[in-house]
Amino acid sequence: MRIAKLALAGLAALAAGAIAIPALAQEHGAAAAGGEAEHAAAGGEHELLAPRGGWPHEDYFGTFDQNQLQRGFKVFSEVCSSCHGMKLLSFRNLGEQGGPFYNAAFPNPNDNPVVKEIAAKYVNQIPSVDPDSGDPVKMPAKTSDRIVGPYANDIAARVLNGGALPPDLSVISKARHGGAAYVYSLMMGYHTPPSGLTVAAGQHYNAYFAGDTAASWSGDPRLKPPGGFLAMAWPLENANVTFDDGTPTTKEQMAHDVAVFLAWAGDPKAVARKQMGAAVIPFLLLLSILVFLSYKALWRNIEH
Ligand code: HEC
Repeated sequence: MRIAKLALAGLAALAAGAIAIPALAQEHGAAAAGGEAEHAAAGGEHELLAPRGGWPHEDYFGTFDQNQLQRGFKVFSEVCSSCHGMKLLSFRNLGEQGGPFYNAAFPNPNDNPVVKEIAAKYVNQIPSVDPDSGDPVKMPAKTSDRIVGPYANDIAARVLNGGALPPDLSVISKARHGGAAYVYSLMMGYHTPPSGLTVAAGQHYNAYFAGDTAASWSGDPRLKPPGGFLAMAWPLENANVTFDDGTPTTKEQMAHDVAVFLAWAGDPKAVARKQMGAAVIPFLLLLSILVFLSYKALWRNIEH
């Protein structure tokens, strides 16, 4: 009797745990964000920007809008890929379930014609060796290739970017507090520097980049502008991406879409994982009921 009760209590606790874990995770996230906000406030910073429509993929059962992922990939490939790679991602990942170019007719993304075309026409080709001369050459990508950046190595990348290394963007959304909201804010945070702020040559003022403007600020130290300086010029300044779904090109739209695409890329299986969780909870509840009923049936005629 005691054992059966204990087992039941255990199962119930398991089910409750399954429900509580995401809640805890979110609380923790919120606490971290809160801590960040406090920290940021101390540095004279401000809250991250939020686009219209927000970040539905961050909700419990939130998913990605496939059109938005496609638009985001377009912004990445037409604008960002001239300096950044995403080498943890292969072209075929774009055609996997949940990805921007997933098509149920092609369960194997290597057969997906859109993915094949994207790989074959991708601007940054794959370094290879000429089989006849042995010379280094660049080859069009195959679906199995990684999405590489344009530079041969980090030294070349720094030389061409004023000493700064454009980071690989595969997991940038995971690597920065705020995730998609940070990428969006960084994209929208290129303001004209306030007078009194000296911006060094090759650097750009961004209200959301981590840093300290104190040393370059001639005004009241308590009023120093938020943000910092980075070597990346505003990539969206002259960007004019034509979206295939007819969505008008605005800076906000491009920033929003690329931020969502980078959030997907940093964790392509997030939606599948959430859906699995949603299926597991009713299963655990049902199992608890069945265990309870079998306990009742087994101990029916036994004095205990
Ligand atoms: C002309 C080259 C260039 C282009 C185009 C470019 N970037 Fe960058 N990016 C850089 C460089 C250089 C850095 C490093 C800046 C630094 O650390 O000072 C950087 C850094 C970043 C960072 C990291 C910021 C941080 O918190 O450390 C993000 C995110 C980023 N870029 C996103 C993008 C996105 C999204 C696009 C396309 C819309 C883009 N970049 C286009 C050169 C570029």
